[in-house]
Amino acid sequence: MPGTDYVFDVNEGGLTRAVSRSLDERGFAVLRGLFTPDMVAEVMTGIRRYSQSPAVAGVPGYCKVDHPKRLISPYSVGGAAVDMILDERVIDLVEGHMKSECVLAEANVKIDEGVGYVYFPMHADFSVGWRKGADSDFELTRDQLELPIGIGGAIYLEDTTEGAFCYCEGTHKMLAPRGPNIDTYPADERRAVMDKMVRIDGKAGDFVIFDDRGFHGPDQPSRARRTIILVDYYRVDTFGHTLVSPVAVWSSDIGRLSKKQLRVLGVGAGAMVEPDAYMSTRFRRNRMYGVAKFLVRNAYLWPHFKNKLRSKLTRRGHRQ
Ligand SMILES: [Fe+2]
Repeated sequence: MPGTDYVFDVNEGGLTRAVSRSLDERGFAVLRGLFTPDMVAEVMTGIRRYSQSPAVAGVPGYCKVDHPKRLISPYSVGGAAVDMILDERVIDLVEGHMKSECVLAEANVKIDEGVGYVYFPMHADFSVGWRKGADSDFELTRDQLELPIGIGGAIYLEDTTEGAFCYCEGTHKMLAPRGPNIDTYPADERRAVMDKMVRIDGKAGDFVIFDDRGFHGPDQPSRARRTIILVDYYRVDTFGHTLVSPVAVWSSDIGRLSKKQLRVLGVGAGAMVEPDAYMSTRFRRNRMYGVAKFLVRNAYLWPHFKNKLRSKLTRRGHRQ
């Protein structure tokens, strides 16, 4: 990989300053060596259990919000997936850099198919006036945006090149002056941003962390499938102890977490969006949702009618 001085092997120790400097200057850094191959394999096995079928009528599975991808909660996968997204070494780096406590505001396993077209363009997560959902009282000010208020992360679960996470180097300092979507910028400004794009190729187990204020997104169009965990740590001194939406965590995993991990997980935290309005429930707006609902509602009609008929006949038999 050419020019990868933004990759830091965490086992070398004493990297806090160097990682923070990379976040300050470039807007991103890659943490290598955090997770063993066994952890990655365990998470991939767990993901396979959820990625075969959609979640339907209480049967666990993936969420569908568009054709190219499948979403799964890493808390459903559980085990090593929870350990990865709440790794205390990463929490310490993120909190040190933001100079505040943080909260894991959002986390999703994302499987992108290589569909060969662009469906998720470069964007910044924050700009002045940002709020999550129309009902939210919180509105981001220019002063707040001057600080690193959100650190995003992409954990690669496979060696990733085509379709990898991309970051437009240094663009976190622009503070997205014309809003979060690069497609709405004049052509020359858009080109200036896109010229700074670095595709961050990585190995299975790499943890790319980045300043959410800069332009980022997946390398698209891509023909390669990609499996990653996407996370977002928000700055508590800016947003309060608030998640994007509450999460459901297995009781078996909660018992293992330290006080710090529970705090970052968001135990007792508020939420910006109700769980039944969260992005992963978008299928509700799809026309096929009605068909799916009809099929589920009527899935047990045959035994129902049989039972009804039997009970009618027995009653009649009793009366005679
Ligand atoms: Fe983003």
